[in-house]
Amino acid sequence: MVEHRFFFNKEALVIKGPKKSHALRMFMLAAVMICGVYICSVCLTQLGIQSRPRKLKMEIMEAPCKNPAIPYYEIPYVHYPEPNTYSRDECACTPVRFFSIVSMQRSGSGWFETLLNSHVNISSNGEIFSSKERRGNISAIIRALDKVYNLDWYSSAAKNDCTAAVGLKWMLNQGLMENHVKVAEYFSRRGVSLIFLFRRNLLRRLVSQLANDHDRNTKQLNGTHKAHVHSTNEANILARYKPRINTSELISTLRHTHKFVTDAMGYFRNTRHIVLYYEDLVQNRTKLMDVLEFLRVPPRKLVSRHVKIHTRPLPKLVENWDDVYRSLEGTEYRSFLNANYDL
Ligand SMILES: *[C@@H]1O[C@H](CO)[C@@H](O)[C@H](O)[C@H]1NC(C)=O
Ligand SMILES: *[C@@H]1O[C@H](CO)[C@@H](O)[C@H](O)[C@H]1NC(C)=O
Ligand SMILES: *[C@@H]1O[C@H](CO)[C@@H](O)[C@H](O)[C@H]1NC(C)=O
Ligand SMILES: *[C@@H]1O[C@H](CO)[C@@H](O)[C@H](O)[C@H]1NC(C)=O
Ligand SMILES: *[C@@H]1O[C@H](CO)[C@@H](O)[C@H](O)[C@H]1NC(C)=O
Repeated sequence: MVEHRFFFNKEALVIKGPKKSHALRMFMLAAVMICGVYICSVCLTQLGIQSRPRKLKMEIMEAPCKNPAIPYYEIPYVHYPEPNTYSRDECACTPVRFFSIVSMQRSGSGWFETLLNSHVNISSNGEIFSSKERRGNISAIIRALDKVYNLDWYSSAAKNDCTAAVGLKWMLNQGLMENHVKVAEYFSRRGVSLIFLFRRNLLRRLVSQLANDHDRNTKQLNGTHKAHVHSTNEANILARYKPRINTSELISTLRHTHKFVTDAMGYFRNTRHIVLYYEDLVQNRTKLMDVLEFLRVPPRKLVSRHVKIHTRPLPKLVENWDDVYRSLEGTEYRSFLNANYDL
């Protein structure tokens, strides 16, 4: 029947007739097929599709998963990865969003990431670029990113449920700023969304950083260094240490950090993004729901075992508070001196 319909469609090209030998019919059939393939390939070339075989493949693979609920302007952010390392069959048509948390050390991103990972459909793979090897050049960076977004990166963030958002945590000083042009290009090409997470109060961040550096050397928790803790007892031990802040370089340190953040947001301003501040999240957990909405995953209560280390007001956290106060009052950073929050 198929053959019959075929001849009917190509009537103009085929000499019909019961008298034709079987061999001749087979020959004509082959000729028609070759001709069809040729016409098709000419069309593809003209459409410029052949020079981009990846796109062609994607279109073919994605066709069966077309989801009418996804508005057309979101299509570039919707992916159907096919991992090399396992079969994603049962989740094949679960759309996946790609994200990267862009942050700085001691800005609450560890806590934030554990919150995200408590969602069954989110998999955030940590600071993959803490390894110098992986961020040594742009090809190494892209290889690592591809692996994450292809769902082939193995980490404790792996889920048994269908992943609907996959990403990583990328610190500004881990090759992101040096390679910003190529990385922004990559984000745009692959439809990656960014979650900027910074601190409003850079002075508090500095205190946390100095205290963390101190613990790296002194290992106050039974001889191990911990950047994050899971109990108030551990938090209290770490918070006992009050750093001295070198006031002669304080303003330039704050200015440098501030510029780093502004530059980063400028470099990636055309990438789809959301900007979060740690202080806002601490004060208003509902803000986390904005993140879930941004990632297009269903709302859900998020939990983390992390316990905040520095909970007291700033004057109680710094050894030479009076010096610090004097150096910042009357400057553009004076607001850092008073901004505290209730917990
Ligand atoms: C990039 O870095 C990787 C891993 O460190 C290395 O193997 C590769 O040779 C580097 N490529 C270039 C072009 O420098
Ligand atoms: C989340 O995972 C569950 C379990 O695998 C799955 O049924 C559901 O479709 C996923 N949700 C989304 C938004 O992908
Ligand atoms: C240190 O170890 C002791 C004995 O194992 C334990 O009781 C204590 O809770 C530990 N302290 C911290 C801060 O982990
Ligand atoms: C404070 O910073 C200045 C300028 O960088 C440096 O010369 C000085 O040694 C530092 N003081 C201390 C106590 O580290
Ligand atoms: C908390 O955050 C949510 C989501 O952004 C917002 O709608 C709400 O107004 C915030 N509440 C307060 C008290 O700021």
